[in-house]
Amino acid sequence: MQVQEVIQKRLSIRQYADASIPDEHMDILFKALQLAPSANNSQNWEFVFAKDSDLKQRLVPACFNQGFIKDCAYFIAGVADPRQKWNMVDITISLTQFTLQAVELGYGTCWIGAFDESHVKQVLNIPQNRKVVICMTFGRPQGKHVPRGRRAVERFVYQNQFGIRFKLSGEYISRKK
Ligand SMILES: Cc1cc2nc3c(=O)[nH]c(=O)nc-3n(C[C@H](O)[C@H](O)[C@H](O)COP(=O)(O)O)c2cc1C
Repeated sequence: MQVQEVIQKRLSIRQYADASIPDEHMDILFKALQLAPSANNSQNWEFVFAKDSDLKQRLVPACFNQGFIKDCAYFIAGVADPRQKWNMVDITISLTQFTLQAVELGYGTCWIGAFDESHVKQVLNIPQNRKVVICMTFGRPQGKHVPRGRRAVERFVYQNQFGIRFKLSGEYISRKK
């Protein structure tokens, strides 16, 4: 699969099949986390992959009762040292690479930003001096998922000056793209 196709196929997955993930796939996915760029190559990231049913069940109330969390193969907590300036960016790039690699392998993810940090920390035994930047569900998709719409490119891509529409080959970019 080309990167373009992976990007186009990706969408948030909130329904998961009861399927385990082979070790060779986890190896590839961990590599996607590892190879992400980070500020000054600080690699300010740690990830807790929660697989146990009991833990996932306890994470549901920690994430404001998002029930699908109990059905994913792994709930991932992205953890960083908050004293480093780019902690949120570094974790996000790493998990974005994970997400795209997951799509290529036939899996899906959903970012989880709605969570109670102290509750997630307590369930996953994450030290107080760490920050849970973002969480994610991961697993084999099940059922039908409908892509969500996006704003037209012309509404957020500018050329040279803020607010000036971008021209390709002398033409303003299409409204439809
Ligand atoms: C930082 C962030 C936090 C998010 N938090 C949640 C969440 O807590 N629960 C959820 O179901 N989706 C969450 N999402 C997924 C978004 O709702 C989703 O990406 C958006 O609606 C676009 O849909 P798509 O991913 O299917 O293209 C989050 C996405 C991001 C980037």
